[in-house]
This record gives sequence, C-alpha cells and structure tokens, in this order.
Amino acid sequence: MTASTGKSATLTTPDGKTAELPVLSGVLGPNVIDIRKLYASTGMFTYDPGYTSTASTTSHITYIDGDEGVLLHRGYSIEELATKSDYLEVCHLLLNGELPTSAEKAQFVRDITYHTMLHEQIHFLFRGFRRDSHPMAVMIGVVGALSAFYYEDLNVEDKHHRMIATHRLIAKLPTIAAMAYKYTVGQPFVYPRNDLSYAENFLHMMFSVPCERYEVDPVHAKALDRIFILHADHEQNASTSTVRLVGSTGASPYAAIAAGIAALWGPAHGGANEAVLTMLREIGDPSRIPEFLEKAKDKDSGFRLMGFGHRVYKNYDPRAQVLKESADQVLAQLGKANNPLLAIARELEKIALSDDYFVKRKLFPNVDFYSGIILEALGIPSKMFTAIFALARTVGWVAQWDEMIEDPEQKIGRPRQLYAGHDRREFVPLDQRG
Ligand code: CMC
Repeated sequence: MTASTGKSATLTTPDGKTAELPVLSGVLGPNVIDIRKLYASTGMFTYDPGYTSTASTTSHITYIDGDEGVLLHRGYSIEELATKSDYLEVCHLLLNGELPTSAEKAQFVRDITYHTMLHEQIHFLFRGFRRDSHPMAVMIGVVGALSAFYYEDLNVEDKHHRMIATHRLIAKLPTIAAMAYKYTVGQPFVYPRNDLSYAENFLHMMFSVPCERYEVDPVHAKALDRIFILHADHEQNASTSTVRLVGSTGASPYAAIAAGIAALWGPAHGGANEAVLTMLREIGDPSRIPEFLEKAKDKDSGFRLMGFGHRVYKNYDPRAQVLKESADQVLAQLGKANNPLLAIARELEKIALSDDYFVKRKLFPNVDFYSGIILEALGIPSKMFTAIFALARTVGWVAQWDEMIEDPEQKIGRPRQLYAGHDRREFVPLDQRG
C-alpha cells in the first residue's frame, strides 16, 4: 500500500516555474517524490541514467533494504524461506501473496507438474542451433518461440489466461533448460517425470540417459531447491524491469520472459555466476589472489571482481550469506569439503573485505559469488549456471508481470532522454557531400 504523506517537495526551475511534488510513503523503505506532473508543470524531465534514484513502479512482492542487507518476499525473510520452505511454496507466495495451505499447495504443485511437457514440435527448434550454442542463447530462442504456440488463446487482460501462462512458464523452463544442456552434449532429450519434485525433475532431465537407471541424490535436490528459492525474485532489477517494459506494451508473456532471459545473461547481472567460476579457475591458487585484486582495482584493466558489488546492497547480500553456509554444508555432505575453488573463494572474500578499495565502496559478495561452487559440486557445468538462474527467476518475472497488468496506474513504459545529437540541419544531396 502506498499513501500520501500529506507533504510535498517544492522544486523551482531556473526560469522560475514551481512544481509541488507530492511525497508518497510505502510500507517500508524511503519515501518517494511523485514526479508524474513535473513535465506538465515545468516543461522539464528528470535525468537518471541507470535509474539510480528512480522507483519505476509500486510493488507488493519483494522488499530490499540494501544498507541493512535485508530481503523480504511478501514480508518473509529470505533466510527463513530458504531454510524452512521449498521452491514451489515460494512460487505460490510470490504469485498469490500468501504461503499456501496444505490443500492449496497440493493443487499448486499439481498445476505446475501437469504443464512440464513441451509441444512435441518444439523439439525440432533445437536442431536449428549449433551444438556448441550457449544454453542461454537457446533458451532465449525457445522461450520466445513459446509465444507462437500459445498465441490465439491468450488474452493478457484475462486473469485466468495470465494464470495459465504463469503456470506454463514456471513448469516448462526447467524442461527447456535441461533440453538446452542435452542438446549441447549430444544426448537424447529426457521427458519430465510427474512423480518427482520440481528440483528432482530438473536433475532427472539433466542427468538421466535412456540406457541407465538414474536415482536423484536427495542432497543434490535439496541444495538445488535452495538455490532456486534464493534466485526467485529480486524486485526491479534489470531483467525484471525488462519483463515489465516488454509486458507494458501488451506483448505475449512468453516474449516478455524471453527478453528477461536476454537481460539476465549479461555478466553484470545473472551471467556473473558463470563468470565467478571462470575467475576462480583463472586465479587457480590462493597465492594469486593479490594479483587479481590489484587488477580489479585498476580501472584501466577492464576487470571486475565477479560476484562482488551490487547496485542496491551496500552490505552483505543476504542470499550470499545463505549460499556461503550452504556451500560449506553441501560440499561436506558430498565429501567435497576440500574443494579448492571454495578455498580460493573464501580467501578472496576475506582479503577483499579487509581491502580499503572494497570497504570504501561497500562492495560485498553477491548471490553469484558462492552459487557456482555449489552448482559445480552437483555436477552442473558452468555454462548452465545462468540458465538455472533464469529458470528460478521466471516466477519473479511472471509475478511482477501479472502485478503490472493489474495495476490501475500501469502505462506503457516510455522513458525520455536528454538529446545531445545534431541540431536540425538541411539534407545534403549525395553529389554535394564532401
Ligand atoms: N570489482 C571492482 N570494482 C567494482 C566492482 C567489482 N566487482 N563493482 C563495483 N566496483 C567499483 C566501480 O568501479 C566504482 O568505482 P568508482 O566509484 O571508483 O568509479 C564503484 O565500485 C561503484 O560501482 P558502479 O559500477 O557504479 O556500481 P553499479 O551499482 O552501477 O554496479 C554491479 C553494480 C553489480 C554491476 C557491479 O558491482 C559489478 O559489475 N559487479 C560485478 C558483476 C557482478 O557480480 N554482478 C552480479 C550482480 S548481483 C546478481 C544479479 O544482479 O544478477
């Protein structure tokens, strides 16, 4: 709920125009200045590249306090959800606002489970890709293509249609991600199994082959389910804002989610989990950490410490804290406690957190710092890390998309600009151009 505080901020432009801008308050977090009437009253826009001071929407789903390192979904802390809940329960919470009762949970699990298969024709789409394609490239294409399969019967204004699209996307993303992997290793696609949990089913589709029995290791399934929970939503980040922007035009949700996957892939966003593993492998030995830290501090090197820093968190990312503890537990359970990459990561964190450069800029490990180490221990190749982030984040994207469509204040997303190009000039015919 947002409320007027009854207060306003007064802005006077250099040419003497004044705007009274209402100050609104949310339930938690800083108040906002409502600038919607600014252009009408002053003829000026605000300028905020990267949206560092802009709230683009009202939302009821997720709250982050970046200074304190707090993340809440519908009011519940991420630490509690990660340790006491499971992924599909968190999906229900994000989508519907409440944790499910037993009956609601059974129904929701059924709704997701019975949408896990893909139209058989989709199998042929994969064959158009090179075998060495990155799974994220394949996912962008295949998820976008779902819009062709669910087009005629989808009215985004209809709540029930949106719910079905939501269930389909949450259900089919693991199938698509696992197929993207199978395609690159030349193994047959594995159909989903409805008797398995969400995480178990993904592991089954990733790792089973027709010639052998595959038993899902419960330690693997539990660890993966926790990783899914920790990636489920994160308010108005780049990929979620992309999904909202695409969705604001009334486009198909499948196309909007494909755009979200594209935005997630970049190394500044979800692509960082793969980049962290590459970096840890490159470091190779704790003795080389100082050399890499120096490179990260050198602006000319073009190198950043991957898995470090965050636009919102100026404190430890609470997801990274849970993952750090998880990494210790899971690796010990799997008999891999002496994993050399974990040792490098721990040492890197320790040294960086005592280095003035990182302390001054409040750069802490983020969610991507430890997740790859766990995924690697589960046998998941690093090229699949961001694909796993994407499948887990799909619920956040669709929850935010649905919320946007229901929002009476929603408009097509259409930022303005500060134009710095040529002034108006006359066209010069080709034979007169020098
Ligand atoms: N290594 C070295 N220096 C850094 C790093 C880093 N990882 N991150 C930020 N800085 C420096 C940056 O150079 C700048 O220094 P100065 O003030 O001297 O110019 C200062 O810290 C502020 O950085 P910024 O680029 O203005 O901050 P931002 O909010 O625009 O960027 C970020 C946030 C996450 C893109 C950035 O911290 C980064 O590139 N981190 C590495 C990539 C990464 O781990 N991304 C995952 C983010 S969390 C999960 C997700 O979103 O998917």
